[in-house]
Amino acid sequence: MKIGIFGTGMVGQILALALVSKGHTVMIGTRDVAKSLATTQPNGMGIPAFGVWHKDHQNIGVGTFAEVAAFGEVLLNATGGNVSIEVLHSVDAAHLNGKILMDLANDLDFSKGSPVTRTSDTPGSSVGEQIQAAFPNVKVVKTLNTLSAFVMVDPKSVGGGDSTIFVNGNDAEAKKVVTGILEGLGWTDIMDLGDITSSRAVELLLPVWLKAWAVIGNTPFNFKIVR
Ligand SMILES: NC(=O)c1ccc[n+]([C@@H]2O[C@H](COP(=O)([O-])OP(=O)(O)OC[C@H]3O[C@@H](n4cnc5c(N)ncnc54)[C@H](OP(=O)(O)O)[C@@H]3O)[C@@H](O)[C@H]2O)c1
Repeated sequence: MKIGIFGTGMVGQILALALVSKGHTVMIGTRDVAKSLATTQPNGMGIPAFGVWHKDHQNIGVGTFAEVAAFGEVLLNATGGNVSIEVLHSVDAAHLNGKILMDLANDLDFSKGSPVTRTSDTPGSSVGEQIQAAFPNVKVVKTLNTLSAFVMVDPKSVGGGDSTIFVNGNDAEAKKVVTGILEGLGWTDIMDLGDITSSRAVELLLPVWLKAWAVIGNTPFNFKIVR
C-alpha cells in the first residue's frame, strides 16, 4: 500500500521505517523539502535531525505535504495537533477526498513547562473531530495517539505486547483497513471505540499519560483495557 505520512518528527520517522519494513511504500511530508533535508541538529529530545536520519533511509520518499497527499492511498497525520488542520488545508482537497487519514495527533501546549492537552470534553474539541469536521470527505481514523512512538511499531516492548490500541472513526471500512495496518505492525488487542467523537476520549488519556510520565519517567508506555 502507498502510505503518505504528514510529519518529519520522531513519529513520522519511526512509522515510515516500520511500514516500509512491512512492505508498504512510504513518502514522508514536510513544509520545505530542501530545508528539512538540510537539517543536522537533533531536536530537544535528542531525536536525530530529519536530514541526518534520511541519509540512512533513502528508500523513503520525501515530498511536500501536497506531494504526500497526492502520493498516498492511505494518509497518516503525524503533525502537532495545533497545526494539523493548517497542514491539511495546505494540500489540494482533491488529494484528500475519499481517502483514509490515520490521525495520531495530540494537541499539547508546551508553553508552561509541563505539557497540557488542549482537548477538553466539550464535543468537537479533539483533533480527530476537528479534522473530520473540516474535511467531511476524508475518512478520519483516530489511532495510535496513546502510546510512546517506539511502542507503536514494537508492541511487544510494553507488557509483552498485551496493551490496547484504539480505532475511532465514522467509516467502518476505513477502520477495517487501519486495523489491517495495525495488525501488520504486530498489534493484537485493537479496540473500536466507535465514531470520531471517541477521539475526545482517547485524546483525554493524555493527562493520565503525562502524570504517569512524571512518576515512571520516559519509559515505553501504553494503556491496557482489561475486560
Ligand atoms: N512522540 C510520541 O511518542 C507521540 C506519541 C503519540 C502521539 N504523538 C503525536 O504525534 C504527532 C507527531 O509528533 P512528533 O513529535 O513526531 O512531531 P512534531 O514535532 O509534533 O511535528 C512535526 C511535524 O509538524 C510540522 N509542523 C510544525 N510546525 C508547523 C507549522 N506551523 N505548520 C505546518 N507544519 C508544522 C513539521 O513540519 P516540517 O517538516 O516542515 O518541519 C513536522 O513535519 C504529534 O501530534 C504528537 O502529539 C506523539
